[in-house]
Amino acid sequence: STSAGQGRADSPVVVVANRLPVDQVTDPDGTTRWQRSPGGLVTALEPFVAGRGGAWVGWSGSAGGAPEPFESGGMQLIPVGLEEEEVDRYYEGMSNASLWPLYHDVVEKPEYHRTWWDTYVQVNKRFADRAAEVAGEHAIVWVHDYQLQLVPAMLRQRRPDLTIGFFLHIPFPPYELFTQLPWRSAIVEGLLGADLVGFQRPSAAANFVQLARRLHELPARGHTVEYDGRTVTARAFPISIDVAAFDELASSPEVLARAKEIRAELGNPERIILGVDRLDYTKGISVRLAAFEELLEDGALEAPGTVLVQVATPSRERVEHYVHMRETIEQQVGHINGIYGSIGGPAVHYFNQSMPREELAALYRAADVMLVTPYRDGMNLVAKEYVAARGDLGGALVLSEFAGAAAELKQAFLVNPHDIAGVKNQLVRALRVEPAEGARRMRAMRRHLFKNDLEHWATSFFDALRARA
Ligand code: ADP
Ligand code: G6P
Repeated sequence: STSAGQGRADSPVVVVANRLPVDQVTDPDGTTRWQRSPGGLVTALEPFVAGRGGAWVGWSGSAGGAPEPFESGGMQLIPVGLEEEEVDRYYEGMSNASLWPLYHDVVEKPEYHRTWWDTYVQVNKRFADRAAEVAGEHAIVWVHDYQLQLVPAMLRQRRPDLTIGFFLHIPFPPYELFTQLPWRSAIVEGLLGADLVGFQRPSAAANFVQLARRLHELPARGHTVEYDGRTVTARAFPISIDVAAFDELASSPEVLARAKEIRAELGNPERIILGVDRLDYTKGISVRLAAFEELLEDGALEAPGTVLVQVATPSRERVEHYVHMRETIEQQVGHINGIYGSIGGPAVHYFNQSMPREELAALYRAADVMLVTPYRDGMNLVAKEYVAARGDLGGALVLSEFAGAAAELKQAFLVNPHDIAGVKNQLVRALRVEPAEGARRMRAMRRHLFKNDLEHWATSFFDALRARA
């Protein structure tokens, strides 16, 4: 445990996110341990915070009081406690059944409940209090994502000396959708508490500036909004991964050997198609399964010569939308294997599990085609990991136009996930691409990624924020 727990400490850089980079889990025998948290936010932020010895304020992932602050991997972790009812209303309710679907093009219908909102306000206050305690004089505090949109304004009220940045990892909807939200004004005002508000895409930043202008009648010009005697900047900073580290991991002898082994364990199929996602309805897992099934039905593909491996990390398992989606997907998998599988030779290998990074890297290396088909995704780091893993210039990426990553990975086989015929076409093209053509596409995408890696993202955000200090 660290001194940060005892009231005001002196951290010069504080990251505030709903989740800590590690989750506290309880084993069946009652012992607790920490394991890596799921999702792209943690993947991206962890190397950044660890490299700077910063503090990270976040929830431990389970209900109950807050564990003592502790040090881990060069980071000061400062847990915030959530009671059972707060997990229900703030995390599963307001964050993941109201805001998540609203911000992802209402792929599922958002629900709005006043009790959820009240708890969202209450929990945001707690995060703001904790951040105000640990931040040093004139520190930089960087708040993350849709769960904590009120924190910037709350923090400014408590600590006017701080420089406050906010980054939204998910899409930000246009005026016409956002204004559904009964508490739309409070959210905009919460975000305007920051000096710099970062988004994945320029269109999202433009949506935010437009809201400030139309909804709050604030003077706004280009990337800036005048509010409360201050200038707030809203700009795009497309997030990335530690490309060099992933490239190195994926070309290590252990990972390469494991990739070969995976191929053999799958029965040495001619072609391996891979999907890797959090089990989320925004990811379009169903679309992939449907396209694969139709191609088997058409005879364009044959199992087990071609197999689909789908790894889907359990996520938000108590939220209704997620329960339904999981049932649908597991039925689809069962249906396909019932018809096209053989003894010891399923057509779809489905895992509702989280896997170590080394195993993911080996899967990326083994896969001939990576299928990334979200209906809407802020960025999608899986697509970037696949490209970073293919130092051999092998493999092909099929990528949804509706993922933020599509704006950067232009040489992917782009698809509209709502157009199943188009997905089938592009999947077949990707499976049959000439090696030279495939290598040309992969090389171009890798060149882009090596220039636009995590360090580039963090530095450009930080430089822009510091320029405001
Ligand atoms: P999201 O943040 O919505 O989950 P991203 O694609 O941006 O989506 O990030 C997902 C991150 O989680 C990636 O770093 C990916 O490697 C990791 N991940 C996804 N599925 C798994 C899995 N089954 N096991 C381990 N890590 C996973
Ligand atoms: C996405 C969100 C993150 C979130 C992650 C995992 O990446 O942008 O804020 O942490 O998904 O979701 P979870 O609900 O498990 O934290």
